[in-house]
Amino acid sequence: MTGRFLVTGGAGYVGSHVVRALVARGDAVVVLDDLRQGHRAALPDGVELVVADLADRRRVAEVFAAWKFDAVLHFAALSLVGESMRDPLRYCIENLSNSLGLADAAVKAGCLRFVLSSTAALFGFPKRIPIDEEAEVAPVSAYGESKLMVERGLAWADQVHGLRSASLRYFNAAGADASGEIGEDHDPETHLIPLAIGAALGTRPPLTVFGTDYPTPDGTCIRDYVHVTDLAGAHLRVLARLERGSVRFNVGNGTGYSVTQVMESVERIGGRPVPHTLGPRRPGDPAVLVASSARLREETGWSPRFGALDDIVRTAWAWHVAHPRGFGDRG
Ligand code: UFG
Repeated sequence: MTGRFLVTGGAGYVGSHVVRALVARGDAVVVLDDLRQGHRAALPDGVELVVADLADRRRVAEVFAAWKFDAVLHFAALSLVGESMRDPLRYCIENLSNSLGLADAAVKAGCLRFVLSSTAALFGFPKRIPIDEEAEVAPVSAYGESKLMVERGLAWADQVHGLRSASLRYFNAAGADASGEIGEDHDPETHLIPLAIGAALGTRPPLTVFGTDYPTPDGTCIRDYVHVTDLAGAHLRVLARLERGSVRFNVGNGTGYSVTQVMESVERIGGRPVPHTLGPRRPGDPAVLVASSARLREETGWSPRFGALDDIVRTAWAWHVAHPRGFGDRG
């Protein structure tokens, strides 16, 4: 079943891969993006782009008045853990008010389906691995807290207004579309895989490994890297699942890889070393974050196609080699 969807942050990294997947199956898409992090060039032809800030409530209401949407997919947010600890109130205020303002506008327009980009950062320092949906939520960053508050607001909107929502707690989104046309282009870039690839290509400084004394086999942190195309596929399946009510899913591959293993993968795929130095731990980094996506798999039939780290890194490598300046739209 195809439809029309409003995608906030649809010109950003995860959002643009979801837009591409929606367009490929024949959906109509309206993107609302202020282009602070997003890129016009990340959008395929035929997608309507409204350049606006979510804080502009009047503009948001106009968008809902202009089109009737089957669902909202909400990606636009502040999303840097480190930055959130320098400016916690901005994160809480902006993420909460923009997200719930959007949900409010959707409810008022009679659009009662909502998919939220949420995060593994909700779980703080988890007590059990893999992390399933029953794990205690205890964020250790203002970023994680802001997403938790949004999830809670959406639960009230369901109870009172019947707004069905899916909160997708992403683990580490990585990789790039197989076409090589879109990929990761953040400013600043803080994520491991693009920084390691940039170091290998010489387009970025040597990588600093944040901590080598973690209680893991090689002493570096372990994360669950999930390919952005698989993540996009999860959104499409979740849209259908929403017909049965609100839900929260953890989205990851279910396999953890250490920082050292990521560097080795980049070296294998790129055929050259990753220049790096060993540094201290980054505050707030848990030793291991690996998802259990059993619930998502069981309830939607989703399964990742890019399970192996090398397959993820290969698509990221191809994107960065072909686009050394990303989308090339920064000054
Ligand atoms: N790392 C380095 N050097 C770097 C960058 C990262 O060693 O220069 C390490 C980190 O310490 C971590 C791993 O690489 O162990 C992955 O780091 P990323 O910054 O790529 O990703 P995070 O796991 O910190 O962040 C991800 C999402 C966040 C989410 C968080 C939940 O990007 O949105 O998981 O903890 F909040």
